[in-house]
Amino acid sequence: MQTDVANPRGHLSLRGLTKRFEGLTAVDHLDLDVAKGELVAFLGPSGCGKSTSLRMIAGLSQATSGTIAIGGRDVTNVPPYRRDIGLVFQSYALFPHMTVLKNVMFGLEMRKVSAAEAERRAREAIALVQLSGREDRRPAQLSGGQQQRVALARALVIQPSILLFDEPLSNLDAKLRDEMRAEIRDIQKRLAITSIFVTHDQVEALSMCDKVAVMNGGRLEQLGTPFELYERPATPFVASFVGRTNRLSGTATGESVDIGGMRLAMPGRHAGPVDIMIRPHRIQMSVTGQGGAGEGAASNRITGTIRSSSYSGDLLQYDVAAEGQVFRIERVTRSIEPPLDNGTPVDLSWQIGDTLVFEAAR
Ligand SMILES: Nc1ncnc2c1ncn2[C@@H]1O[C@H](COP(=O)(O)OP(=O)(O)O)[C@@H](O)[C@H]1O
Ligand SMILES: [Mg+2]
Repeated sequence: MQTDVANPRGHLSLRGLTKRFEGLTAVDHLDLDVAKGELVAFLGPSGCGKSTSLRMIAGLSQATSGTIAIGGRDVTNVPPYRRDIGLVFQSYALFPHMTVLKNVMFGLEMRKVSAAEAERRAREAIALVQLSGREDRRPAQLSGGQQQRVALARALVIQPSILLFDEPLSNLDAKLRDEMRAEIRDIQKRLAITSIFVTHDQVEALSMCDKVAVMNGGRLEQLGTPFELYERPATPFVASFVGRTNRLSGTATGESVDIGGMRLAMPGRHAGPVDIMIRPHRIQMSVTGQGGAGEGAASNRITGTIRSSSYSGDLLQYDVAAEGQVFRIERVTRSIEPPLDNGTPVDLSWQIGDTLVFEAAR
């Protein structure tokens, strides 16, 4: 993509954004457009360049090359405090000696807003994150979740045009994390603030965000809606990072693939080495002789034997040995369903359309 800051397509536009540290390219030619009011996740494994990208957008780190535009203005060389950005980090970075109110007012006072106006706006932001009544507490008197709300209020109070989140929920327990996700999403939507949400948690990225930018080794692998990423992953990396998969390698001829002697149908026509992937919960399983598997659309059918199982209440996972391969199967327990014994013979089937096919790099 061409560098074109004069004509950016997004409210936030990155063109060729690159960061090199000594001997390491942490972010490699990132091109991205985020529309006004959109929430986009940066998703990828630890070290793939998410935080470095965010820090460049915020102006906390100087880009090696490339450009950043916000609202059509090139801000690549604009200092952080003049970029109009709100930041929420994993560590809350609150001032411990200041009250909640003072913490939230701080950014406004720095911007020379009058004390009365700053207090009015700070109280509004505190109400927005549901902390009214706690204005006079100090951070140490609040729970982790409440401190993160203060951090959010502090980011919101300056009415930023862009909000940046860097793994803000990683320090919270699972239940609180769920609540905060919903609340952040709700506030972000209501205020229609263009936002980037960095996370290594695929469930968080998919469930909260309008779009997800999957990063790997400093590069953008794919930008898409959660549905697109899950159902039409562009690369094997995206397919295996977003959701779980069975991955098999074989040799394609037309509409089928040979995997160590097992012949499977697949969508499209291919030739030569391919990797195919099938999601564990898209595979139907029934005990051999008891029927039930694979009604309906054109399917692959094979038989196998249960090797092991793992039960987590809502989900049953099985490893099934079949045709010299091991298939991971997941079933949602729709009624009381004890795990089947190891050694049980089973029939497996899946719809041909549920197979993801990637031509292997030659
Ligand atoms: N200040 C720095 N100096 C040298 N290397 C850095 C610096 N900051 C980050 N890195 C490296 O850049 C890569 C990307 O880091 P980061 O953006 O923090 O990843 P993520 O947030 O996706 O986990 C990593 O290999 C990291 O070690
Ligand atoms: Mg990081």
